[in-house]
Amino acid sequence: MPAMPGFSHHIFVCGNVRELGHRRGCCDPEGKQTLREAFKKELKQAGFGPLVRANHAGCLEQCEHGPTVVIYPQGIWYGRVTVDDVPRIVSKTILGGEILSDLLIPDSCLNNPACPHRRPVEKG
Ligand code: FES
Ligand SMILES: [Zn+2]
Repeated sequence: MPAMPGFSHHIFVCGNVRELGHRRGCCDPEGKQTLREAFKKELKQAGFGPLVRANHAGCLEQCEHGPTVVIYPQGIWYGRVTVDDVPRIVSKTILGGEILSDLLIPDSCLNNPACPHRRPVEKG
């Protein structure tokens, strides 16, 4: 019998805090981890047990598209995620395997320093 995988999904929720006015902004200005708590609650209600975990993450380097969430091992990157999005992420993406296109960070943005959402470094 094949071994069961340890996890089916690992959800990393950026909870990085930066000072107000930082050029790149940050995903959790108040440092309350509200989004991660919402995932934990929703996963518990859905009865996933230990198969799916929501973890606090430091900066995932997609700050301008944040609040940022990445789901592994599928490698699904979501941006501008709010607490209100959590139930459908769990029901549609985690349970249903569906990608939510309105939340997906486009490939043209992911790890692209030239993406139009990033503000250029101010000179002088
Ligand atoms: S602060 Fe969240 S991705 Fe950088
Ligand atoms: Zn972008």
